[in-house]
Amino acid sequence: MRIAVVGSGYVGLVTGACFADLGHEVVLVDNDEKKLTALRDGEVPIHEKFLQELLTRHRGKRIQFSGDLQAATRASEAVFIAVGTPPTESGDADLSYVESVAREISGGVEGYKVVVEKSTVPVYTSQWIRTIILRNGAAPSQFDVASNPEFLREGTAVTDFMYPDRIVVGVENERAAEVMRQIYGPLTSGWYYGRTEAIPRPEAAKTPPRLIVTSTKSAELIKHASNAFLAMKISFINAVASICESVGANVQQVCDGVGTDSRIGPRFLNPGIGYGGSCFPKDLMAFRAVAKENGYDFRLLEEVHRINEEQRHRFLRKVRSVLWTFRGKRLAVLGLAFKGGTDDIRESPALLLVQELLREGCHVCAYDPAAMERAKEVLTAGVEFASDAYAAAKGADAVLILTEWEEFAALDLERLRALVKYPIVLDGRNLYDPAVMVEHGFSYYSVGRPAALTEEVPAAVLKKKERA
Ligand code: UGA
Repeated sequence: MRIAVVGSGYVGLVTGACFADLGHEVVLVDNDEKKLTALRDGEVPIHEKFLQELLTRHRGKRIQFSGDLQAATRASEAVFIAVGTPPTESGDADLSYVESVAREISGGVEGYKVVVEKSTVPVYTSQWIRTIILRNGAAPSQFDVASNPEFLREGTAVTDFMYPDRIVVGVENERAAEVMRQIYGPLTSGWYYGRTEAIPRPEAAKTPPRLIVTSTKSAELIKHASNAFLAMKISFINAVASICESVGANVQQVCDGVGTDSRIGPRFLNPGIGYGGSCFPKDLMAFRAVAKENGYDFRLLEEVHRINEEQRHRFLRKVRSVLWTFRGKRLAVLGLAFKGGTDDIRESPALLLVQELLREGCHVCAYDPAAMERAKEVLTAGVEFASDAYAAAKGADAVLILTEWEEFAALDLERLRALVKYPIVLDGRNLYDPAVMVEHGFSYYSVGRPAALTEEVPAAVLKKKERA
């Protein structure tokens, strides 16, 4: 099929590249000429596994880049809107980009098309898109609006696209449903999974995925409700972790016991320093705003947000209780991205904690495998950036693990022990077994588990002892 994808941001790029890999002809549309030139030249603006590979495979063949939305609409059977919906001050989503795209699409509606909202938007948006396209002169019989929310996670977006748990398609009639079925046919028929060049299958993937057809309003609500539920799951376990700390229980054991109930499930039950990113914080507030507008005060979501904020402050209090005073302390910070596998620092709890530590007068030496360039734009005075985790740890009063990067879970502990000033690790992501840390001579503090303490022999003294 011929498909236009409007917006070459995170969702648009991944969606366009994946559609091309499914065999469709894709035009990626953006109004930023600089971005288009960079993309045409082979640059990939985001850190995402397999994206570079797919863009290289299809650039100039099944993927074209264009600044002309009307022409792209004319040439396509489906137009996916994947532009930003940033939050306004009151927490609801700013839909002005969606509106201006809809206005422009209207001029290219010649012959039947399905206009698909892919951006995360509040309920009723698809109705508004239809109204705007009609107001600007398109004939009602020439187009339908569908809602096709995405459930991609940053860092694994391409794999998530190709191996989804489900594909949700919200439509108002069978004609639009049929177009959407055709677009996802390569996945739902299983065709894609038999190809030799297919993106590697993740272990737990169940294929082919189910395509769930709903009304447009239901599809819009599915997206907000899914993100809100996942955020709630994280805040729930973080609250449980706090109780574990108070009573001396171990949240990991509690998670095992709770998560093995198949009605609850073990995923998204990892306690930590709270969720961040460009989705959960924004979508939670947007969903609350939508609910309020429609007469429901969704206070549960406010509480989810409050617990999330508190989780970060709690961790900071823990650092303080271990170090006593902050001023002049040298802290190694491992992780700045909002989660592992991405260079994204938007609403990153790690970054917010670093800013707090700096305000308290700490000296921070930070390392992140992907997010340092972005972090450098935000963090200026008081932060040193290291070339790896060990360089960051050199001479540190304590090591703080703030992002769940795989490489931070596999550190050479002997080497680390020899580099730090004091063997103290505060792990905001529970990456280590406390007993193992003590074996390696560290005092280890994590989230929702009892602290594992050892005699904190400074590295210098340890070296002297060894020599003796
Ligand atoms: C999230 C959803 O998981 C996707 O399904 C959705 O498509 C996406 O938002 C979106 O709306 O675009 P993402 O923000 O990329 O994806 O990241 P997640 O993997 O969900 O992690 C979000 C935050 O929660 C991170 O800060 C992570 O560290 C934290 N988290 C996650 C935990 O603290 N504990 C967990 O058990 C899981």
